[in-house]
Amino acid sequence: MSALKGKHIILGITGGIAAYKSAALLRLFVKAGAEVQVVITPNGKEFITPVTLSALSGKPVVSEFFSANTGEWHSHVDLGLWADAMVIAPATASSIGKMANGIADNMLITTYLSAKCPVFIAPAMDLDMMAHPSTQRNIELLRSYGNHIIEPAEGELASHLVGKGRMEEPENILAFIENFFSEEKPLEGLKALVTAGPTYERIDPVRFIGNFSTGKMGYAIAEALSRKGAEVVLVSGPTALPEPVGVRTIRVESACQMLDVSRKEFDSCDIAVWTAAVADYAPAHPCNSKIKRQKAAIESIELVMNPDIAATLGQVRSSTQTLVGFALETDHGPENATKKLRSKNLDIVVLNSLEDSGAGFGTDTNKITIFDRCGSSESFPLKSKAEVAEDIVDYIIKFRNSK
Ligand code: C5P
Repeated sequence: MSALKGKHIILGITGGIAAYKSAALLRLFVKAGAEVQVVITPNGKEFITPVTLSALSGKPVVSEFFSANTGEWHSHVDLGLWADAMVIAPATASSIGKMANGIADNMLITTYLSAKCPVFIAPAMDLDMMAHPSTQRNIELLRSYGNHIIEPAEGELASHLVGKGRMEEPENILAFIENFFSEEKPLEGLKALVTAGPTYERIDPVRFIGNFSTGKMGYAIAEALSRKGAEVVLVSGPTALPEPVGVRTIRVESACQMLDVSRKEFDSCDIAVWTAAVADYAPAHPCNSKIKRQKAAIESIELVMNPDIAATLGQVRSSTQTLVGFALETDHGPENATKKLRSKNLDIVVLNSLEDSGAGFGTDTNKITIFDRCGSSESFPLKSKAEVAEDIVDYIIKFRNSK
């Protein structure tokens, strides 16, 4: 049975030549047992007729805010609440730009802005439009809102040019969405705490001691845990990243603040993942006013050791909790990583070695080896941080199931 059986789907169609494929996609949704409401932009109707779409969906197609003849109002808010999924296929560069920037000048975009359900977007356009930094930036914005981008395929385009921009085939769009809805939620009912990013330790109101952590790894882990059904609290140091959708994010600045917030959340959590690159030291006497530049150099700043969040909370853990730490090592990686299992009372430690290119701070990729307290370990090849996060979360699930 399809995971789409009984689901309410809004199929958004915009004005691109690939709109002819939307009829096939609509047919597949209906065959899978979904109830489909088509919302089409005025330009979309130039490419495929509402008659075809209403015949296939068994419902009148919505395009305007109200029917000119009857005055019947089409409520984008009601539609947005009705839907279990919204699929925009094809999504033109123009509609992508409007969705990314909230330009609600037609029924489809207002419905998009009102939708509370997962949104899937299948771009379709010429290769140069697709590659343009404006389109790429808008797609990244949509991703940052938690929308799912179904990447266009490479191939011959309507312009006869060959490249990336062809809307993904209807069968593959269906498979992508079915896969999303059939994904298991093995962490349903569990709470996870994730620390992420750097900490800033104030020297004075304008200067701090910090590090190059971007928070990407921790944010990806928070998202992966949430996708598997966990309730996630992300305690984040200063980062430039948008807050992950569906995750409760608490922003902090210093190690002491991170410890305070984490301590409050810790008892009620089943899983904790310490990804934060916590500054090891903080100035002993931060100044309340800006330290003036002096003729003679300041020779030293007295530092004090910061609390070790992982080790502190490792002391008060329960045996039912699963605690995961990170080890970023330049040498003797495996020995140092496994030592942390004991010294911080962890169940799992993830080693990323600075000896590997593409691993560590600031990159979009990482290469890890996971060790656990039962003596097992697993090495993974270089992958994107999102994929690495999936591997870590899968390992956590496997580890919990084996206990
Ligand atoms: O001791 P080291 O800094 O190498 O340990 C790294 C692990 O410990 C990471 O999981 C990091 O988040 C955590 N840690 C912490 N508080 C600190 C230092 C490290 O939670 N002050």
